Amino acid sequence: MRLLFIGFGTVGQGLAELLVEKERHLKKAYGIDFSTVGISDMLKGSLVNAGGIDLAAALEKAGSGEKLSELPGEEFTGDALEMIRTVDADVVLEATYTDIKTGEPATSHIRKALERGMHVVTSNKGPTALHYQELALLAREKGVRFLFEGTVMSGTPLLNLLRETLAGSEVLELKGILNGTTNYILTRMEEGLAYDDALKKAQDLGYAEAVPDADVLGWDALAKVTILAKVMYDAKGDPFDFPCEGITKISASDIVEAKERGKRFKLIGRVWKEGNLAKAAVAPEEVDMGHPLAGIMGATNAVTVTTDTLGDVTIVGPGAGRRETGFSLLIDLIEIARKD
Ligand SMILES: NC(=O)c1ccc[n+]([C@@H]2O[C@H](COP(=O)([O-])OP(=O)(O)OC[C@H]3O[C@@H](n4cnc5c(N)ncnc54)[C@H](OP(=O)(O)O)[C@@H]3O)[C@@H](O)[C@H]2O)c1
Repeated sequence: MRLLFIGFGTVGQGLAELLVEKERHLKKAYGIDFSTVGISDMLKGSLVNAGGIDLAAALEKAGSGEKLSELPGEEFTGDALEMIRTVDADVVLEATYTDIKTGEPATSHIRKALERGMHVVTSNKGPTALHYQELALLAREKGVRFLFEGTVMSGTPLLNLLRETLAGSEVLELKGILNGTTNYILTRMEEGLAYDDALKKAQDLGYAEAVPDADVLGWDALAKVTILAKVMYDAKGDPFDFPCEGITKISASDIVEAKERGKRFKLIGRVWKEGNLAKAAVAPEEVDMGHPLAGIMGATNAVTVTTDTLGDVTIVGPGAGRRETGFSLLIDLIEIARKD
């Protein structure tokens, strides 16, 4: 299976590490052989090698700030789109920046890869939240897969659970904690920190960005509920068509008062149906202490899926991280290899 890495940052390198570490296991257990024929990255440089790029060496170069083009192969001077347009591969791994307002440049990368009949695996929320139906249809027309496990809950396999394991069930509602940063902030506030101090701690730990809007205003969770609403119920529209409120209006005293009533504040992403209409929303909610979501503390994610067969099923796990999100791409690669 020939791979093209588009974006070789945290997630791209997380996958590369797993491919190096698990090379023998993947071959033995699934009969899969991977060969990386191209890597395109803005600052680290771009390289192609039809004979296969040494991923362990690429990781070393990226780690030491040296250019990938110093490795055996040919330096590629075009941009990512040009690489997708001209290099032959079986799977394009799209792991560039998320932009949930425009979805670019990732959407153009994915569209071009699918048009050329290459499978696409991505952890990028922008293209999936904005253009899921178009890209899934294009993939079907071209007889390839468009998979995006890492866009929701990182490598914790919620999308696989919905698609494979709960197949045959009707999902009546889904609600959960889809953003680890805000859950971490709410956890620290319950321990007595003011919002600003809890945010500062999240920033010091690398959970929150210097400009934390995407997390604290709920936009990251909004992109994820939009993806879920599209996948589950074929919802139409853009993320910002759905109501969204973050955690910035919650005070420490709100949290204490909720606790006295046997409740705990969580930033909840919710997807449900009213008649034939798909609904999605993000808002802080007071969750009963007895509910599984109330016990989820720190940066962990969790989702409760209400089904017509099993009642409530809750999945808990990491929602971010280098190895964790790298693993989400590996899940999708194995799925492609098994069904190809
Ligand atoms: N990190 C996580 O825990 C996590 C979890 C779930 C989903 N995701 C999603 O996964 C994607 C990747 O995240 P990340 O954490 O790996 O981000 P990152 O560390 O910032 O890596 C992104 C990489 O893409 C490169 N890049 C950006 N635009 C490019 C372009 N047009 N052509 C070629 N390369 C380009 C960047 O290059 P330079 O930096 O060299 O300029 C960088 O190396 C994002 O969409 C993110 O939202 C991440």
